[in-house]
Amino acid sequence: MQNTKIMILGRSGQVGWELRHKLACLGQLIAIEYPEIDFSKPDSIRAAVRAEKPAVILNATAVDKAERDPELAMAINGTAPGVIAEEAKRIGCLLVHYSTDYVFDGTKQCPYVETDNPCPVNVYGKTKLAGDEAIQSIGGDYLILRTSWVYGARGNNFLLTMLRLAQERQELRIVDDQIGAPTSSECIAQATANVLAQLLASEGRGLDGRSGIYNLTSSGETSWFGFAKTLLTQAAPRLSITIPNLVPITTGDYSTPAKRPANSRLSCQRLGETFGVIMPHWERALTLVLETLAEKLSRLSANCQGA
Ligand SMILES: NC(=O)c1ccc[n+]([C@@H]2O[C@H](COP(=O)([O-])OP(=O)(O)OC[C@H]3O[C@@H](n4cnc5c(N)ncnc54)[C@H](OP(=O)(O)O)[C@@H]3O)[C@@H](O)[C@H]2O)c1
Repeated sequence: MQNTKIMILGRSGQVGWELRHKLACLGQLIAIEYPEIDFSKPDSIRAAVRAEKPAVILNATAVDKAERDPELAMAINGTAPGVIAEEAKRIGCLLVHYSTDYVFDGTKQCPYVETDNPCPVNVYGKTKLAGDEAIQSIGGDYLILRTSWVYGARGNNFLLTMLRLAQERQELRIVDDQIGAPTSSECIAQATANVLAQLLASEGRGLDGRSGIYNLTSSGETSWFGFAKTLLTQAAPRLSITIPNLVPITTGDYSTPAKRPANSRLSCQRLGETFGVIMPHWERALTLVLETLAEKLSRLSANCQGA
């Protein structure tokens, strides 16, 4: 198992970064990114996979500013996953690909399940759905893990933006009518590692008919306002932050380039039943991320004082 070659695409992203840490004891990691591989050029993807011949590929790349550059977004989010899937199938390699709640329009009144019909309302969602469909049509051994509201102790995310804004402003206006489950990149990587460990220990049986889409988010639900309120309340004593005045607003009050679904909730029942992976409640996972941040900051400040 130690010699299993595991290729991580998108190593510096939120999820890719955590995958490098959580998968380290499952095999030989090869973490690749632009410019070593140009995801907008199918030949570059093919060459990288053919050179390494991994047993597992994890694709954590994505262009999130899709409305600004729809063509690039379609190349990276929509076309590249199909090319990776073709190459993976050719060498009998397992593909793990990350997808999103944005493939849905958010009008369902309860959590989405994997068999619900997608209906994306923005370019990002449309391009990500194209990627999911390309992988499904090619087949082979694959897991499409749909997650939502990703954040962590590093990268560009809502948690770090709120912590910064709390120090710059006295009032924050935050959308309160979109609901979902904030999911830490660390939890996503840990859950992925748990599933992979099972598959790698299964004596070559691999997915054994379990290829497909699996939702992978924290349990529980909240709005962006609820997330901000909880994270700032938890962060205040740990990071010595003063909580600004928090004002709940509606989606209509806050204009964004991409329309966002009102309901981003995803049911993770299938993941639990198939792989026994139980995701932590988002508030518990948040505490762990804030503890990591607080620990980092206190070490930094101790180092500065000692210098
Ligand atoms: N973030 C969310 O809230 C969210 C929600 C649901 C699903 N997801 C899915 O989860 C997965 C991981 O997301 P994440 O939050 O970890 O993303 P992220 O932090 O934005 O990282 C994306 C990765 O893709 C790479 N990338 C972006 N544009 C590229 C390009 N043109 N060519 C080559 N590489 C490029 C980035 O490289 P650079 O760092 O060099 O740009 C980075 O390594 C994605 O599949 C995403 O769709 C994310």
